[in-house]
Amino acid sequence: MRHVNRDERASIAFTLNGRAVTGDAEPRMLLTDFLRHVIGATGTHVGCEHGVCGCCTVLIDGAAVRSCLTLAVQVEGRSVTTVESLAAADGTLNALQKAFQQHHALQCGFCTPGILMSFTDYLARNPHPTEDEIREVLSGHLCRCTGYAGIVAAVLAASGGNPKSNKESRSQP
Ligand code: FES
Ligand code: FES
Repeated sequence: MRHVNRDERASIAFTLNGRAVTGDAEPRMLLTDFLRHVIGATGTHVGCEHGVCGCCTVLIDGAAVRSCLTLAVQVEGRSVTTVESLAAADGTLNALQKAFQQHHALQCGFCTPGILMSFTDYLARNPHPTEDEIREVLSGHLCRCTGYAGIVAAVLAASGGNPKSNKESRSQP
């Protein structure tokens, strides 16, 4: 096996939001830093950098992952989807984003990109989740602002559930 110097930069070719891109990264560079500082895709946020808060969540080949626990070199040849992909080219929000807006599911918005990407993955696999299922997914994310109720209501609304039932729900996921 070829020895790789820890400072040696590798050229990484991958697909970002349907577009072929290439960037250079050291073998130790995290995917968060690669996306934000090399590629310039700053929609993905960085919080704890320990896999706890969830705000760095992106999709790799359609599956939600913590990009702070992923090395940039691991996306070579793979398809990465970030929050920048959700709205249309003219800025029109998709159904999930509109539901977040309508149900006040964000305040500062720092946690929002990761939560949107987790539910983008989850709703593709379970389009009509129960409130409990939504809360289980949400338990992988930390939000300092919303109390979570608005987020649950938004995901229920986007998936055809009844957000009114959220009135009697708990304030924590
Ligand atoms: S920054 Fe990745 S989980 Fe918190
Ligand atoms: S909206 Fe501020 S951290 Fe979630």
